[in-house]
Amino acid sequence: MKFFLDSANLEELKKAAEWGIIDGVTTNPSLIAKEGVPMEEQIRKICDIFDGDISAEVVSDTAEEMVEEGRRLASIHSNVVVKVPLVQEGIKAVSRLSKEGIRTNVTLCFSAAQALLAAKAGAYIVSPFIGRVDDLGWPGMDLIRDIVTIYKNYGFQTQVLSASVRGALHVVEAAKAGAHITTLPYKVIEQLFHHPLTEKGLEQFLADYRKAFDLIPA
Ligand code: E4P
Repeated sequence: MKFFLDSANLEELKKAAEWGIIDGVTTNPSLIAKEGVPMEEQIRKICDIFDGDISAEVVSDTAEEMVEEGRRLASIHSNVVVKVPLVQEGIKAVSRLSKEGIRTNVTLCFSAAQALLAAKAGAYIVSPFIGRVDDLGWPGMDLIRDIVTIYKNYGFQTQVLSASVRGALHVVEAAKAGAHITTLPYKVIEQLFHHPLTEKGLEQFLADYRKAFDLIPA
């Protein structure tokens, strides 16, 4: 399973990249707005410091404009994947961009039927938002399971990315369901490291060793 960082913050990205476990980055207009730097400028900065798939989202309404914007975003760097919303104009744009060899990430997917549209349009990635479905009281993970099954049934090459991830359980369940990618906010990746028995066990190992050899704790 590939791990993407769900952030447009350069400091978070630099810190996460040091772990050596991050395969890509997803951004969205809200995350970019939080950084206060326009989309193309911030995406360029991210491309300069990170080597891997970087999703950059279009912010226009018509297919024509989305295609133009997608071409511009894709020309920033070969790692850019153009993120397009799952609406009629978006799917139209994805079909065109795919034919031009531009990789797309179809975002704001909330049903398996929508995911079929993304695959039919030749999307490189589809992003079902599991956390936001959970928030409405439905099991978001069912969405991942259904999409993975449907794509397998027909041999669609579109990768399933579990998005809107809120914690470690989402990561594990998405991996069990066969999602190809999960995108994680920085704080969720940090959470994955922690286990009280790891921390307690390490403390004990180091204390025993230092005591035996008269070492001063760091
Ligand atoms: C993914 O590409 C989305 O940007 C992101 O996962 C949305 O997450 P949220 O529901 O926490 O905003």
